[in-house]
Amino acid sequence: MEAAQRPEQPLRLTVSHLSKSYPSPAGPVEVLHGLSFEVEGGELLAVTGPSGTGKTTLLMLLGALDRPDEGEIWLGEQAVHRLRGRAAADFRRRTVGFVFQLFYLLPHLTALENVMVPLLPYRRRLDFDLRTRATELLERVGMGHRLGYPPAKLSGGEQQRVAIARALIHSPQVLLADEPTGNLDPTTARNVLALLREVQRREGQMVIVATHDPQIATMADRQIRLGSAGEAAP
Ligand SMILES: Nc1ncnc2c1ncn2[C@@H]1O[C@H](COP(=O)(O)OP(=O)(O)O)[C@@H](O)[C@H]1O
Ligand SMILES: [Mg+2]
Repeated sequence: MEAAQRPEQPLRLTVSHLSKSYPSPAGPVEVLHGLSFEVEGGELLAVTGPSGTGKTTLLMLLGALDRPDEGEIWLGEQAVHRLRGRAAADFRRRTVGFVFQLFYLLPHLTALENVMVPLLPYRRRLDFDLRTRATELLERVGMGHRLGYPPAKLSGGEQQRVAIARALIHSPQVLLADEPTGNLDPTTARNVLALLREVQRREGQMVIVATHDPQIATMADRQIRLGSAGEAAP
């Protein structure tokens, strides 16, 4: 597998009339309520809103981890809302990087190994040296001095930096971050957001960050707010 090609045109994500509902004992829970918005490549968008308004659902739909009940998601020419099975897995592997609140680093591996893990199965087919690239990414996120450390010996902010490097290992066009600062103290949270900004500026990625922290959201280029009415506010 080759790293994702950079498109000639800036990439555009177009979301239109998106809705999803989940069954529950009290009847279906509907989220997103026909949400529509657009994001350009190189933009950092914050998705805000209280817990339960569908932020995680939205990221799962954007990352082809689930499918909407209604509406469309276009990433350039790709109809993300139609992807399923093998095609969805290929799309995630080529195009999307995920960063989560709980980092999800593998405890028995070093920082360097954690960053290499997503591409290990393909390492013989890569057109670059995986270890070199993982080392460079860890240096870029300020973790070059911790390559051989296991997660347990890293602080929360350091673990999130490793998780961000891991999400970037395949040069994804889209980086999706779900409450990436939710487990961090406010100063570390700001630093992690600043790092996401820097990465996005340097690599021209599209970054979409879900957060319920209004302070973090003010660092984004743009915000959309989810609510019970599901309206995107400017
Ligand atoms: N797999 C699921 N099954 C049933 N209900 C779900 C599922 N995922 C999310 N929900 C419900 O959908 C709503 C939105 O959840 P979520 O997208 O996680 O919101 P947020 O990330 O903003 O807190 C919540 O009421 C949640 O309980
Ligand atoms: Mg959530």
